[in-house]
Amino acid sequence: MIFRQLFDSVSGTYSYLLASRAGGEALIIDPVLEKADRYCQLLRELDLKLVKAIDTHLHADHITGLGELRDRTHCITIMGDQSKADVVSMRVSDGDRVTIEGMALDVMYTPGHTDDSYSYLMGDRVFTGDTLLIRGTGRTDFQNGSSRAQYESIFNRLLKLPEETLVFPAHDYKGDTVSTIGEEKRYNPRLQVHSVDEYIELMANLKLSNPKMMDVAVPANMHVGLHQEELDKQGLSLNARQAIESLGRPDILLVDLRESSERSKYGTLEGALHAPYPTIEEGLKPGGMLREMANATGRRIVFFCAFGERSAMAVAAAKDAGLANAAHIAGGIDAWKKAGGPVLQG
Ligand code: FE2
Repeated sequence: MIFRQLFDSVSGTYSYLLASRAGGEALIIDPVLEKADRYCQLLRELDLKLVKAIDTHLHADHITGLGELRDRTHCITIMGDQSKADVVSMRVSDGDRVTIEGMALDVMYTPGHTDDSYSYLMGDRVFTGDTLLIRGTGRTDFQNGSSRAQYESIFNRLLKLPEETLVFPAHDYKGDTVSTIGEEKRYNPRLQVHSVDEYIELMANLKLSNPKMMDVAVPANMHVGLHQEELDKQGLSLNARQAIESLGRPDILLVDLRESSERSKYGTLEGALHAPYPTIEEGLKPGGMLREMANATGRRIVFFCAFGERSAMAVAAAKDAGLANAAHIAGGIDAWKKAGGPVLQG
């Protein structure tokens, strides 16, 4: 396994680059915008293809690298269902799994620091975001934070993991890099309380000033989405209403770019072909399945995904591959459902 803990000294943020092998797919957790060059260099040096980038929550102390990495590497961006970020490619909720080649992360909803805080468990280690820090816990006094929810997340979820589980947080300001669940249970001063009320009391009396970057970082991190308007101007975009009206038309080939787990959770569209986003380059090559189908039938490919981000990137990839008229459904199946479009349950 390739496992790199990367540090941004300005914000005290840890980011994690994971891959199962050199030459394979990689995933990054909590990337920082200013470090994008460094991540890309490391990806090249280790011969990795970044396919997913996760933020554990909407950060208030640094600008996320999610949008920048998506633009540079065409990776899938991931946040939790509750996140206020405008567009991420994929949203997850408790019990989901985030997978890349040779690796899977179990998604744990651990609200409290913010209402969109998630932890990600991978075998012997857990990425706790700002929910559980080393000898500390994330503040709960803004961004819909709740010390009651955080107590539940920590005591009833994270501390129930095996004691030897390694804890990798999103921040440290003292130079610690890793801890364990057992160690935090015993020595984290915030966790030496006897009740939820005692914890709420402790958190209410921290008297912290707001993070320096908060007024910049929070609004910026809410607008990480890929700008889909350009495709609209080029006539390569169907809004949900237009897409619903064109359902079943014989000259259109609907292509669902989402993963199987998303299809079974949220349903799909009638007649849609399934081609998960990571496989589309392959499918669009000469001899590739999508290209051959489009050529053989003369149908126009219309990509869709969850929110329109993967499909917008697929339209660009199709264009690069010489299929200039491929289009996508703006806003994805989310917009389709909101417009009252029919969905087949998987
Ligand atoms: Fe945070």
